[in-house]
Formats: sequence, structure tokens, C-alpha cells
Amino acid sequence: MASKTVLTGVKPTGTPHIGNLIGAIRPALKMANATDGQCLFFIADYHALTTIHDPAEMRKLTREVAATWLAFGLDPNKVLLYRQSDVPEVFELSWVLSCFAAKGLLNRAHAYKAAVDQNVEKGKDPDKEIFMGLYCYPVLMAADILCFDADEVPVGEDQVQHLEIARDIAQKFNHTYGEVLRVPKATVQEEGAYVPGLDGRKMSKSYDNTIPLSADTKRLRKLVMKIQTDSSAPEDPKDPENSSLFSLYKLFAKPDQVATLRERYQSGIGWGEAKQLLFEAIEAEVESPRKIYEELLAHPEQIETILAQGALRAREKAGAVMERVRQATGIANP
Ligand code: ADP
Ligand code: TRP
Repeated sequence: MASKTVLTGVKPTGTPHIGNLIGAIRPALKMANATDGQCLFFIADYHALTTIHDPAEMRKLTREVAATWLAFGLDPNKVLLYRQSDVPEVFELSWVLSCFAAKGLLNRAHAYKAAVDQNVEKGKDPDKEIFMGLYCYPVLMAADILCFDADEVPVGEDQVQHLEIARDIAQKFNHTYGEVLRVPKATVQEEGAYVPGLDGRKMSKSYDNTIPLSADTKRLRKLVMKIQTDSSAPEDPKDPENSSLFSLYKLFAKPDQVATLRERYQSGIGWGEAKQLLFEAIEAEVESPRKIYEELLAHPEQIETILAQGALRAREKAGAVMERVRQATGIANP
């Protein structure tokens, strides 16, 4: 059997932060290094269009996401990195798939259902402010995947339903035309490390409690100093397991440093000192990627070149799949 194809997409909807690094970027790069197959990572900009309607923001976030992945070690010679919108075949396939996507299936998609439920709860028209982009989101995602004969799609738990929808659509298509589309499988990323934000809740752009990966040294320190702690005195013993400061430290420091800090917590350490140690550990990890990141953003043409080269190679693959689909459906002559 040919080596497997691993594919995943990232929506450019927020400035990448430490939560994204730990929960998505680190594991994906680790997986890319471990697989002997083909890896495709893409920026799902047209998916982001369901929510991002400011053109400058769309451009900025797309570049930030690409620069972040490259800065943290994605090797574009090994991993195909491209922008979804640069592969028109995906959108052609999306239409074809919509002819095999049962409306009832899409009615049950979590994001759409949640939006309807919210309207109903508020006594509004169920479809108020709901757009077809949200409704058809899973079909476009199925096209992203099926257009590349992906075998494995590493995603978080929240995306598993979308993968099931993609499989369902592929099976329906194959039932009609034979084994034309490769049916993918989700590789659910293990409950990754949960990264707490500045206020102790999950770090998320929606809570405005993030530490952006692009923060310069001064801002990084300032943000770390803002992490909420209790009012215990420096000499009071502290419980490391109940401290988001300590949870963050574990994600960045070496095991012996973690062990030392654990002891310091038990014997008493001032929050200021603990924060300084955390700042130093994060800074050590992000310092050199940040330089690459800044360099890339200062020369966006370098990012564009990498994305354009990725798109060229991606289109070759997508073109072959699309040709099979055109032949199978009778849209193209044999
Ligand atoms: P946000 O919560 O800021 O909107 P996204 O939902 O866009 O972030 O998440 C993109 C990826 O980053 C997902 O794979 C998600 O699991 C991961 N991620 C985001 N925040 C965290 C966090 N606090 N801890 C661990 N992983 C996270
Ligand atoms: N919907 C995914 C998310 O919100 C992003 C995405 C779009 C994706 N197309 C994909 C992920 C295809 C995996 C495969 O995170």
C-alpha cells in the first residue's frame, strides 16, 4: 500500500497563542516528524470567512498563522503547507459533495444546531443571522479532506463530528459511483495538555486571556505578571496542583526545574518569583522562533512564496482526485 496521507487544517481566526502552541502546533509538528507518509497542513481561510469579515484582519491572521507554523519548525520541504483558497479544485469538489450531503445530516451539525437553539431560546426566528456558510461548513471541510485522498485527519474532539460527516458523504458518493473517494479516518488528538489563561480559565481568544506567541520579551513578562494568583504570603506553602502558574511552568520547563519549583511551592515561594521563573521558561522556548516569526512577517513575500509553492504541489494532487470525480460523474468525457 502507498504510504499514508495525513492532512489537517487550521482556521485563521485569531492571533496564535500559547494554548495553540501546546494543544495544536507542537503535537502536529511531532506527528509530521514521526510519519513516513505525506503530510499536508493548510490554512482554512475560506472557512474563516464565516466569521472574519474584515479584509485586513483576514490577511493579517492568515500570515500570522503561516509564520507561526514555520517559526516553530514546520519544514515546507517535508510538509505541504498551503492556503485553502489557492486550491480551486476544493471548491469544485465541495459542490459535487453537496449533492451527496443529506440535508438532515447537516441539520444535525453541532455548530449550526447550537446557533438555531440559541435563536429559539431567545424567542427569535430559528434562522435569524444564520448564513449558508455556517450550514455548509462541514461540506467544505469534507472537500478539504477528500480532495487529497487523506487517510488520517488529526483533529481535536470538537471536530470529530465533521469527520463523520466527511466519511458519510464519501461513502454515499462511492455507493453511487464505486470506490472513487478515499474514506478518511479521524485521529483524535489525545486530551492534550490543557493550557490555562491569564484568568485561570482555558486560554482562548474568546476569553481575551491569552499570551500571544508573538509577544515581545517586555510584553511577555508583563502578561505573565498578570496571571491571577491567590493572596497567600510568600512564606505560605502553596499547592502546585492547584496553580495555573505551575501548570504553565510544567509545559515549558525541564523536568528537574519542575521538580525544584514543586519543592519551592511546598516550602513557600513568592508569586512574583514564581512568575519570573515562568517568564524565563517561556522566553527560552519562544525567543528564537519569535525572531524567525518577526523576520517572516517583515518579509511577507517569503511567506507568500512558500504558500504558493505549497499550493502548486497541492493542486497537482487535488487535480488528480477531481479528474477521477469528473470522470465518475460523467461531467468529463472518458
Ligand atoms: P481559541 O480557543 O483561542 O479560539 P482555537 O479554538 O482556534 O483557539 O484552537 C485552535 C487549536 O488550538 C485547537 O486544536 C485547540 O485544541 C488548541 N487550543 C486552543 N486553546 C488551547 C488551550 N488553552 N489548551 C490546549 N489547546 C488549546
Ligand atoms: N474546522 C476545523 C477547525 O475549526 C478547521 C478545518 C477546516 C479542518 N478544514 C479542515 C481541519 C480539514 C481538518 C481537516 O479547527
